[in-house]
Amino acid sequence: MTIGFFDSGIGGLTVLAESLRRLPAQDYVYMADTLHVPYGPKSQEEVRDYVLAAIETMMGEGIEALVIACNTATSIAVNELRERYDIPIVGMEPAVKPAVEMNRATGKRVLVFATQLTLGMPKYYALVSRVDEEGIVDSLPLPELVRYCEDLQFDRAILGDYFRGKLADYDLDRYGIVVLGCTHYPYYRNILRELLPPHIEIVDGNAGTIRRLASLLSRYGVVGGRGSGQVKFMCTDNDPAYIDKMQTALQWLRDNHL
Ligand code: DGL
Repeated sequence: MTIGFFDSGIGGLTVLAESLRRLPAQDYVYMADTLHVPYGPKSQEEVRDYVLAAIETMMGEGIEALVIACNTATSIAVNELRERYDIPIVGMEPAVKPAVEMNRATGKRVLVFATQLTLGMPKYYALVSRVDEEGIVDSLPLPELVRYCEDLQFDRAILGDYFRGKLADYDLDRYGIVVLGCTHYPYYRNILRELLPPHIEIVDGNAGTIRRLASLLSRYGVVGGRGSGQVKFMCTDNDPAYIDKMQTALQWLRDNHL
């Protein structure tokens, strides 16, 4: 089966890396919307149009299932995409539910990092109101982080200053879990691990998303698969340098088990 993965940029590769580990016998098409990354600071209407256009291009590649490996694009377009296309579509949302469940016993709070667009959408409010009965979830947009990531900015001093500034007003002793609610953020897991107090767990939705994909595929009778784990990389501005960058980033994620 050929499975499409979509993100605004290199963030969705963190999800694709998980899929390659769990479902190595499928083939993949990965599309980045390089013409419009980052989505986080843009309007809902703009992002909707960008996502629909990019996915239409991916459909031309014969994909048989789709993972929207982007929390922002999912919150804006997943319903419309499911109406439009008759293939299995897996979306992503910040892993607030498992984080709240994991934290219930400790009485600590949950801090969700995501783009400002994701955090401002009704879908996110609905999710939090549904699962956060005790009112323990706080949300923090990190608008600059996607740009840093796209620029391959992983300098520990620069990122350390950035995160310390963002977290200055938070009493981290009160928190038990940080949720990475944007697929670009897991690139910074190791830097965050060094910065956050050791009692804080860092979670993302990647493994859960691929578990959902796997169970959906098995419902369609795709158990083993006959692919070879090959990935066709695409981007909306067709820049060959960006294709190289995606290949390098994916290899880096796989080498670092992220
Ligand atoms: N990686 C995306 C997400 O999961 C979007 C980042 C962006 O383009 O702002 O939300």
